[in-house]
Amino acid sequence: MLVIQGGAALQGDVTVEGAKNAALPIMAAALAVRGDVRLGCVPDLVDVHTMTQLLQSLGAEVDRSTPNSAVINADNAQGHVADYELVRRMRASICVLGPLLARHGRARVSLPGGCNIGHRPIDLHLKGLAALGADLRIEAGYVIATAAQLRGAEVDLSGPHGSTVTGTCNVMVAAALAKGQTVIRSAACEPEVVDVGRFLINAGAKISGLGTPVVEIEGVDSLTGSAHKILPDRIEAATFAIAATATHGSIRLKNVRPSDLTSVTNALSAMDVEVSSTVDELRISTPRQLKPANITARPFPGIPTDTQAQFMALLATIRGRSVVTDGVFPDRFMHASELLRMGAHIRRVGASAVVTGGTRLSGASVMASDLRASAALVIAALTADGESQIRRIYHLDRGYAGLETKLNALGANVRRESDRQQPSAVKAPHYSSQSARQRTDS
Ligand code: EPU
Repeated sequence: MLVIQGGAALQGDVTVEGAKNAALPIMAAALAVRGDVRLGCVPDLVDVHTMTQLLQSLGAEVDRSTPNSAVINADNAQGHVADYELVRRMRASICVLGPLLARHGRARVSLPGGCNIGHRPIDLHLKGLAALGADLRIEAGYVIATAAQLRGAEVDLSGPHGSTVTGTCNVMVAAALAKGQTVIRSAACEPEVVDVGRFLINAGAKISGLGTPVVEIEGVDSLTGSAHKILPDRIEAATFAIAATATHGSIRLKNVRPSDLTSVTNALSAMDVEVSSTVDELRISTPRQLKPANITARPFPGIPTDTQAQFMALLATIRGRSVVTDGVFPDRFMHASELLRMGAHIRRVGASAVVTGGTRLSGASVMASDLRASAALVIAALTADGESQIRRIYHLDRGYAGLETKLNALGANVRRESDRQQPSAVKAPHYSSQSARQRTDS
């Protein structure tokens, strides 16, 4: 668990890692590439380790001996089965579906199953791959996909809450090696999807329209080894920016792309935070008094759902009424009940959470339900009076590299302790403590 003594304002510089949500689908896409794939700025995260294990289980060679890099060679990767034991640890495992199908003409990938941030179907992934000619069925908890020859087609990936990030990646990789032209309508525009597209282009794919809802792909015969540097993690950057704001601090974020963070910095500016940027840095400086705000998470370029929980923690500290809505995962509010335990005033009204902020939060023992919920609890604990213990931080380790080291370098007081209470503290009603510990959300 993390033990956090609240009250210190974050001050100083922090360097952001490469983006988890680009690194994972890019590593998966390497299965469809011949020769060495050399990746830079690979974050040192549990999820990246899990993806490494998954690729190795499929027969790929993965060398991660140099920090923040990965060299992947899938030339002898003959496996086409992504086993439940690995997939259940990380939903992003579904990213191997498109690459395996493109590479072998067949794939058997465990369905990721339930998740703590809401309903997460994969129907759009399947719709996209079916449009390219794959034959798909669900059997014994696995997606079984076969295709003698993938063929380019038009496919619309719009769902009830926008497009699909990993679904767009899956279809893009499969289409890159299909015969003929594919047009993806309602493609996800997230910067991580663009990064996956750029990786594929470096490997020889013909893709245009990245970052727009219409992505066109002209299939090629093969993709060959290439080098790629993973883009900076906008969610990690936003988490530090929000933490600095909540603690009334002043920080400089290095290795960021400010244009990927416009919705976040606009929201902070509307609260009266001073934000300035250069080409790859962002400065956040917080006045004494902040204004409440209404935050609605939406697909890019909207406020990311992966920052919604962190914003909620921040708004709980700002005097006045704020409303938080998540247009991507409408039920992603499990952090609210833990924030209540720290003294926050949050009420669910319809599809939104109404936050009446301003009461000083008090340190408490709380439990994280997913990765970004954990980040929200850390932010709340940094602002709270007294000490907090945050349990189930294995979620944090999946998405934030060296979080406590970085926070302490900014002046926070955070220490990691072994959580002896953890097994009995995991009281999720629907699954065992073992599976709860391994339940995933990314
Ligand atoms: N959806 C469908 N059908 C599908 C796929 C998605 O209806 O086939 C719905 C989802 O239920 C959701 C919306 O579409 O309402 C968006 O889901 P999406 O597929 O885009 O999510 P994802 O690709 O599974 C990625 C990130 C998540 C992030 C979401 C939204 C990775 C590895 N994961 O998930 O990251 O929240 O996009 O931006 O890229 C995290 O990092 O903490 C995390 C959860």
